[in-house]
Amino acid sequence: MTTKQYDDLVEINQKSIFHPASSINDVLNNGTSICLEGKGASITTHNDGQMIDGMSGLWCVNVGYGREELGQAMLDSASSMGYAHSFAGTSNTPQIELSEKLLDLTRGIFSRVHYGTSGSDCIDTAIKLVRYYNNLRGKPEKKKIIARVNAYHGTTLAAASLTGIPSFHTAFDLPITGVLRAPKPHFYVDGKEGETEAQFTKRMLDEIETIILNDGADTVAAFFAEPIYGAGGVITPPQGYFQGLRKLCDKYDVLLLADEVITGFGRTGEWFAHQYYGFKPDLMTTAKGLTSGYFPLSALFIGDKVWDVLVETADDMGVFFHGYTYSGHPTGCAVALKNIEILERENLVERAKEMGAYMHAQLKEKLSGCPIIGEVRGAGLLAGLQIVKSKSPKTFFDSVDKAAPLLQNAIREEKVLLRGLPSANTIGISPSFVITEQQIDNIVTAVVIGATKVQKKFGI
Ligand SMILES: Cc1ncc(COP(=O)(O)O)c(C=O)c1O
Repeated sequence: MTTKQYDDLVEINQKSIFHPASSINDVLNNGTSICLEGKGASITTHNDGQMIDGMSGLWCVNVGYGREELGQAMLDSASSMGYAHSFAGTSNTPQIELSEKLLDLTRGIFSRVHYGTSGSDCIDTAIKLVRYYNNLRGKPEKKKIIARVNAYHGTTLAAASLTGIPSFHTAFDLPITGVLRAPKPHFYVDGKEGETEAQFTKRMLDEIETIILNDGADTVAAFFAEPIYGAGGVITPPQGYFQGLRKLCDKYDVLLLADEVITGFGRTGEWFAHQYYGFKPDLMTTAKGLTSGYFPLSALFIGDKVWDVLVETADDMGVFFHGYTYSGHPTGCAVALKNIEILERENLVERAKEMGAYMHAQLKEKLSGCPIIGEVRGAGLLAGLQIVKSKSPKTFFDSVDKAAPLLQNAIREEKVLLRGLPSANTIGISPSFVITEQQIDNIVTAVVIGATKVQKKFGI
């Protein structure tokens, strides 16, 4: 295409598309970046040329861009049938094979899988299931869900209500009722002077217990948590947090849901982050890495505790009146199966662990002298860089300073795409598992150059 043809497309884009999670003014004034192709951990856009995509899209292209095998799996499935629904007990072969595989990968801690097409619908299904479960076992008062400050669980009405970033609520009349907010357990930012990490964990858990007791355990149904925060700042849990949370949930008969939409399917170097942290959730939401983003598919994993109640009451309840036209879509399931086959065949989960260790070591070493990066955190190929005004004494930027978008843009000038997460003043990194050492070095160099520019801008 010629430059003129791209300019025309940008104009049509401005006149026709209402972009998700975008500034309307930004699109109207600055146009758009048209993605043209991708290979491995890189993408090409019409105005930037080739760049390293250090975010693998929206934290999802785990096996990397441009996999013909996934295209072939789609083609085979679509051309042999194209569509099959799963209502009234109907099924299809890819869905059956995928479900067996998924239950295997989670080492037997779940009983059933229920499919949708996005992380948000998966969260909505989980919220409805939590209500259903407590109604069926005669606890209709037990409905409230605890989610955390800065959590990100999606954008549908209910999922956005659990999301704990205020900008997702403003002007949408959210959150809906029945959401309780627990503190964000970020030791580096929220730990008190002189407090140890273990003391901080205890304080966080005590605050959760207080929330449960204040509202009454008989009204609290579930705790939803990302094992590692994503869009809310790539926040890793403090030592012993999930073990303590599991105990607390058991004590008060509260379900624990792990939202593994980002952390699932190898991101941390284990298949799932609850395996990485060594705890057992009752429910788990997944999407993104399930198909490496090649097809919209989500999977809600349901453990015995909930499933047994559903089975016991099935005679009385009859049909489970929930599901989607595209639940268990055969093409999506075929893509997921092929995606998992690639992850296994190429040892990509192990690779995420090894390359992740390299990435974290490089980031820590090369950014140790950088005055505006206070913490490098994460696991596997998932990292968060905490932007600070000063490391000692520890001071943070206000959101009006726009430090995260400034740094994101400065890094982009070096042909590296990372994501500024303004609500946490953090830069997120989440590349494809096929990323090379050289590409990681390029990312780290881009961060160092970008941070130096931003630091100068603030006169630091
Ligand atoms: C942890 C988590 N949960 C849920 C969602 C929502 O997923 P989707 O955008 O597919 O609706 C996301 C999306 O980024 C996420 O990171």
